[in-house]
Amino acid sequence: MNLTPKEIVKYLDEYIIGQKDAKKAIAIALRNRYRRMQLPKEMQDEIMPKNILMIGSTGVGKTEIARRLAKMLSLPFVKVEASKYTEVGFVGRDVESMIRDLVAASINLVKKEHKEKNKEAIEKYVQKKILEKLLPPLPKGATAEKRADYDKSYERMVEKFKRGDLDDLKIEIEVNKGLGDGVDNSLPPEIIKVQESFVKILGSGREKIKKEVSVKEAKEILKNEASETLLDMDAVKSEALKRVENGGIVFLDEIDKIAVSQKSGSRQDPSKEGVQRDLLPIVEGSTINTKYGTVKSDHILFIAAGAFHLSKPSDLIPELQGRFPLRVELNPLDEEILYQILTRPKNSLLKQYHALLKTEGVELEFEDDAIRAMAKISHITNEKTEDIGARRLHTVIEKVLEEISFEADEHKGEKITVTKELVHERLDEVVEDEESSRYIL
Ligand SMILES: Nc1ncnc2c1ncn2[C@@H]1O[C@H](COP(=O)(O)OP(=O)(O)OP(=O)(O)O)[C@@H](O)[C@H]1O
Ligand SMILES: [Mg+2]
Repeated sequence: MNLTPKEIVKYLDEYIIGQKDAKKAIAIALRNRYRRMQLPKEMQDEIMPKNILMIGSTGVGKTEIARRLAKMLSLPFVKVEASKYTEVGFVGRDVESMIRDLVAASINLVKKEHKEKNKEAIEKYVQKKILEKLLPPLPKGATAEKRADYDKSYERMVEKFKRGDLDDLKIEIEVNKGLGDGVDNSLPPEIIKVQESFVKILGSGREKIKKEVSVKEAKEILKNEASETLLDMDAVKSEALKRVENGGIVFLDEIDKIAVSQKSGSRQDPSKEGVQRDLLPIVEGSTINTKYGTVKSDHILFIAAGAFHLSKPSDLIPELQGRFPLRVELNPLDEEILYQILTRPKNSLLKQYHALLKTEGVELEFEDDAIRAMAKISHITNEKTEDIGARRLHTVIEKVLEEISFEADEHKGEKITVTKELVHERLDEVVEDEESSRYIL
């Protein structure tokens, strides 16, 4: 991961409109990670990540930024919801499980890379296993002549195998009967250990059963088996743990939901504060047990996000506030931004609807005036009722396209243009009546 901050922002720009400050802060935080890794070890240890708190009302792109980052980075990343956790000692998910999830994500990431790297070896393994079934090896004492014949038919078989000509043949293979690895990350590692030993004692994790499958299915099954067999799990583990420690990112969504608002007065919720306290050592840096080994959370980057409608960042306990030194605010979306969100992103909503209707043979087009009108109506509705940000666009488009979507099959091969008139026809009545806009849009 050695993208410059500019490159990170550029990538995010392809999907998220506006929100410059948030993009910039995140880009810098990520680059600082990379910068830190270039330093001598003792210096590295001193440099703590600058955790970020993103503040912005609903539907302005907080989660979207995280989602896009996750896709772009080959760094371990998890997005979790702060409100899903319960205080240690109570029934529910304890906060340390987010780090265990992060480790699991990292293991998957490293495994996937490994698969990519060993693609050829894996394919060889699969081919060998399947051909063994279809063309049993020659007995030991075969004559040279026979052997030559055999080699020829083997070659032909390989050709067919590669072309997929054998895909429909049935073969019998041995597969692991099982619980997968049978463990649940939400549980503390001590319990996972117990669970694992049961799996071992019962033998169900490794038991093999015979199964008749097509060659095509066998390819998939054996591919997994091959990558497990060729995998040096110890190396994967240590690489995965290292990546978590030096590059892991936890996106802590809905952090406002665990803030205890002063306004709510007597209805204080002590368990929320408990969750905040449990978070402190993790964010600050502590050692966490996972089933793959221990990880130190000191250099994991935390990005917290929340709308803070009912509470304020200052309603978080002070120690926690202090651990998120970078604050960025996301802006509310105005009409122009809403217009751009409709049109500009790589997979913008309009492009999505276009593609969806194309599957029915309908060529959907939007006049620019119509797009402007939808942006305007979305903005007005956000102001008049509740501001739900870009999510308003979804409801507005749905309403505009309702009939077209419903009758698409009758319009096969046609081109349908959404005009300004159509938008107004579909929406004006709804928008003017505040009551109905509350329900419909
Ligand atoms: N600035 C933006 N650019 C492009 N798309 C956006 C933008 N803001 C929001 N969207 C779109 O709106 C939807 C909701 O956005 P998102 O999930 O990021 O909201 P959020 O800020 O996390 O809200 P909440 O506080 O409710 O979780 C997504 O489909 C996203 O693609
Ligand atoms: Mg969100």
